[in-house]
Amino acid sequence: MQPQIAIFQDKFGASESAAYRFAALSHQAKGLFRVALAGGSTPALLYSLLAEPPFRDSVDWAKIHLFFGDERAVPPESPDSNYRMALETLLSKVPSPSENVHRLRGESADLDAEAHRYEAEIRALFPDESSPAFDLVLLGIGADGHCASLFPRKASLEERTRLVIPAEPGLKPFVPRLTFTYPLINNAKQILFLASGADKAETLARILEGESRPLDLPAQGVSPLKGRTTWLLDGAAAGSLRRVYSPGATV
Ligand code: 6PG
Repeated sequence: MQPQIAIFQDKFGASESAAYRFAALSHQAKGLFRVALAGGSTPALLYSLLAEPPFRDSVDWAKIHLFFGDERAVPPESPDSNYRMALETLLSKVPSPSENVHRLRGESADLDAEAHRYEAEIRALFPDESSPAFDLVLLGIGADGHCASLFPRKASLEERTRLVIPAEPGLKPFVPRLTFTYPLINNAKQILFLASGADKAETLARILEGESRPLDLPAQGVSPLKGRTTWLLDGAAAGSLRRVYSPGATV
């Protein structure tokens, strides 16, 4: 299925649309709503919006399980920790039961063991599914075309069995990573890319309108088997796109 691309005047518009979509999808979910959060800096505004009315009070946090699509090999209190960013912007401000927040332990001395542990924690929340299908996977995009911690020309792109693996970094912070793999990402029901800023424009044009080169542009490897991919962009990030796309309309 072709990805949906929506372009907004600014980062706030794109982030607000993402918040509406998060809330709408959580309302539609029968039973648990299982989400993988993106790291980096872009989603901080989305998370802050979710932590305030109307979103905070409109979703049932007791049914929402929050995972991390990737993490840096740093302690949770590190300024480089994706968990810390989510804690400061969202988790400390919403009534999410502690057992619903599934932290990827970047501080582990054995990242491979942690990857296996986290995969088991994911599978435990999908007891009836041999291939866990997240309700929503949030992703950002690096200027090098990476998503999660799937970086260009790294071995992590080749993984076809495990759901979570240790990964080599490709951009700062140059610390080892833990990441969802393509099999897990591509099994999701909804994948939402959120990107803003002119520094992403050239890469986004290559990803969305250029030739298929997923080894060089790992975000092109995100192609859900049954799910749907949506890109929410601000005008700056969309600045090099040549085609005309739907103007961003908050869902
Ligand atoms: C990470 C992120 C990564 C991020 C991109 C974009 O741990 O680095 O998960 O995939 O989404 O690097 O980062 P910015 O939002 O900071 O540009």
